[in-house]
Amino acid sequence: MRLERVLKITDFLKGEGIDNIQIGIILGSGIKEIVENFNIRKEISYSEIPDFPISTAPGHEGKLKFSSFAGKNILFFCGRFHYYEGYKMDDIVLPVYLTKFLSGEILVTTNAAGGLNPLFSKGDIMRIVDHINLFPENPLRGKNDEKIGERFPSMIDAYDPYLGEIFDKVAEEEGISLKKGIYVGWQGPSLETKAEYKFLRIIGADAVGMSTTPEVIIARYLGLKVLGISIITNMGIGDITPHSPEEIIEVARNSSKILGKLLLKWIERL
Ligand code: HPA
Repeated sequence: MRLERVLKITDFLKGEGIDNIQIGIILGSGIKEIVENFNIRKEISYSEIPDFPISTAPGHEGKLKFSSFAGKNILFFCGRFHYYEGYKMDDIVLPVYLTKFLSGEILVTTNAAGGLNPLFSKGDIMRIVDHINLFPENPLRGKNDEKIGERFPSMIDAYDPYLGEIFDKVAEEEGISLKKGIYVGWQGPSLETKAEYKFLRIIGADAVGMSTTPEVIIARYLGLKVLGISIITNMGIGDITPHSPEEIIEVARNSSKILGKLLLKWIERL
């Protein structure tokens, strides 16, 4: 990552009054409703931020939203950058660097995913407990800056068990049947063949998507704690019917209303 770029954007955001955040939250496809549970103090379009990429994926708004809640400053990235859009890894992980450089301690990353576990169904919320990274490129490839992070950062317990436990408790109290599982990330944008869904299940995944794992690798590299949440928008096993992006976004939108409430309660407990 070119640090001058991160510092330039960080300075710009500080000038706009966005600083001293505790939590950065990346919103996946169709998940923008989460923000409606929060009181927004400041909103900036990605296009107004110098050197910032623009997200082109469906269901992604392309805005930063800054909120204060329960004594914590929270920065929402409403629109993520995907590998399949042609972005470089440095663009994809930029929100994670900004979270860190604006003093954040926690990254929450959310996504829409295809379900591989036969006990899951469309609309379920899954807390990610671990991942399998099948992207063709690692975001840490290249020369390492030891001042920023280690050459070989550990990915054991990449998804913080303690933060996860609090989230599980909140879901239980709210009567939500939260699923837990392993997320596999690869590039897309073509959806999987039946054989690929089967393969991903055999290698140990519960859900598949086209994002998240590069962000989490960088979050751990920078020492951020991670909570990862998938919304299961379609199933990749059993009776697999072709699913359109519109259907995926519709399912994500419905479940994200529940996810928004859970996140609100979770933040109160931190
Ligand atoms: N595969 C990959 N990514 C996805 C899927 C899927 O079935 N559903 C939502 N994102």
